[in-house]
Amino acid sequence: MKNFLSAQDAGNIHELIKTALEIKKDPLSSQSLGKGKRLGLLFLNPSMRTRLSTQIAAQNLGMEVIVFNASQDGWSFEFEEGAVMNGTTAEHIKDAAPILGKYFDIIGIRTFPSLKNREDDYAEKIIYQFVKYCGIPVISLESATVHPLQSLTDVITIVENLPLNNKTKPKVVLTWAPHVKPLPQCVANSFSQWLTAWGQAEFVIANPTGYDLDKKFTNGAPVTNDQSAALNDADFVYVKNWSSYEQYGKIISVENDWLLNKEKLSVTNDAKIMHCLPVRRNVELSDEILDSKNSIITEEAGNRVWAAQAVLSDILNGLS
Ligand code: CP
Repeated sequence: MKNFLSAQDAGNIHELIKTALEIKKDPLSSQSLGKGKRLGLLFLNPSMRTRLSTQIAAQNLGMEVIVFNASQDGWSFEFEEGAVMNGTTAEHIKDAAPILGKYFDIIGIRTFPSLKNREDDYAEKIIYQFVKYCGIPVISLESATVHPLQSLTDVITIVENLPLNNKTKPKVVLTWAPHVKPLPQCVANSFSQWLTAWGQAEFVIANPTGYDLDKKFTNGAPVTNDQSAALNDADFVYVKNWSSYEQYGKIISVENDWLLNKEKLSVTNDAKIMHCLPVRRNVELSDEILDSKNSIITEEAGNRVWAAQAVLSDILNGLS
């Protein structure tokens, strides 16, 4: 693995999951792997779980970690080629990224989409410029369209919680949920990309009209506007809001109530409830579900460490 920007960089997903689960059993077994190597974690947007879990993972491998809150503490970056920088931006990515490449052996970058310009966001203009100019392996800590460390974690968590029934494949439902703010499609895109690449689940997406995701990520997974039908016999329900891809970045009013409750979940196979967090309680998911025995969100967030450690281990193994 040279970079880790999406499921396409994961190589053999099954092996990566296996590695993460082995690491979970013995987190400090490879403390010399990252000795003498430095990881930079650069945040252009807020984070709690990604920042801390990746830092812990790197330290478990003996790496030195430096976190740089670029949006708060750094010069504002310019990403446009040929820009006349007489406005608010102070440093071009072409100048900054090669320097980061000198300071670090691996770099992680968090950069959210604008939700204004779909073409630029879906071309992953920002993270690819870091890749182009920094010259060292880049790990996505969530970019404009995907969140691969989250999705690897999600698949690991599903594998750990597979139901003991006779199904050959668990039924996994990704359901849209309400929110008060327009959110990126990243987590939903990424979850769809990883679930379809993993190929070990019956995967269904439920969302209101106007909220279909880019088919590039859903890879032929069935999409329905009928949440209740989708939930039927589900083993895992992944809850997430996203803004419209079609009317890019917009919140479109929806007719039905998409907030889950216990009654709606009664048709599932006692489904486990997942969410990437942070979650807006009683807007996106109700207290009664978040605080129920079916919720595996804390376990899921805990697994972020093992996903990050598996990815870092793979990249470190490839460094000279
Ligand atoms: N799920 C997730 O990425 O959490 P943070 O935004 O806190 O990193």
